[in-house]
Amino acid sequence: MQVKRKVVLFIATSLDGYIAAKDESLEWLFKVEGEGDNGFAEFYGTTDTVLMGKKTYDWVKKHEPNEFPYALKACYVFTRTPRNNTEEVQFVHGDIPAFVDQLKTREGKNIWLVGGGQLLHSFLENDLVDELIVTVAPAVLGGGIPLFPEGKYQLELRLKGMRRFNQFVELHYEVKRGLEK
Ligand SMILES: NC(=O)c1ccc[n+]([C@@H]2O[C@H](COP(=O)([O-])OP(=O)(O)OC[C@H]3O[C@@H](n4cnc5c(N)ncnc54)[C@H](OP(=O)(O)O)[C@@H]3O)[C@@H](O)[C@H]2O)c1
Repeated sequence: MQVKRKVVLFIATSLDGYIAAKDESLEWLFKVEGEGDNGFAEFYGTTDTVLMGKKTYDWVKKHEPNEFPYALKACYVFTRTPRNNTEEVQFVHGDIPAFVDQLKTREGKNIWLVGGGQLLHSFLENDLVDELIVTVAPAVLGGGIPLFPEGKYQLELRLKGMRRFNQFVELHYEVKRGLEK
């Protein structure tokens, strides 16, 4: 049987489970003293495809207007509104499970699910996430954009690893499926 490549969530969160403040600010995250790039380049090198929700895409475009950071990867942005593709990204709408399944059967490296929470919610409800690498920042925000919005999903996980990058803790989980449960 062909081994499919994985969809891996790689994301940073506050201790209370928010990926951005209510105003979409990430200031609380950028001010944390980490170590090097906190494992980013190492992870990025294991992927060749990048998936994100339209709001995350808008955030990236707003904050990095001159150079799209994922230009060297195949980048797909999920939206419910049909939009014209750009040189950098393809917009995807419609049947997410069919799209992702078809992506997974192609040869290549792993697939980075960037977020945000809304897109992750759709992926979790359709059981499309294989691994989660969550970097926890030493911050409690009391509110904001949730990593895990409430939904019809429940995961059983296996801890694959944990690392400390100065003030950050990285937790690496694999989703248990079938006989593993
Ligand atoms: N801390 C981190 O590491 C991290 C990582 C990623 C993002 N973020 C932050 O998270 C915030 C955005 O997160 P978010 O949860 O609000 O939004 P998001 O998931 O990035 O984007 C939501 C949008 O994606 C589209 N979408 C979602 N589910 C879909 C589905 N099932 N089918 C088709 N399209 C779908 C819709 O776009 P349309 O409205 O166009 O239909 C929806 O409005 C930003 O502030 C970003 O900076 C933080």
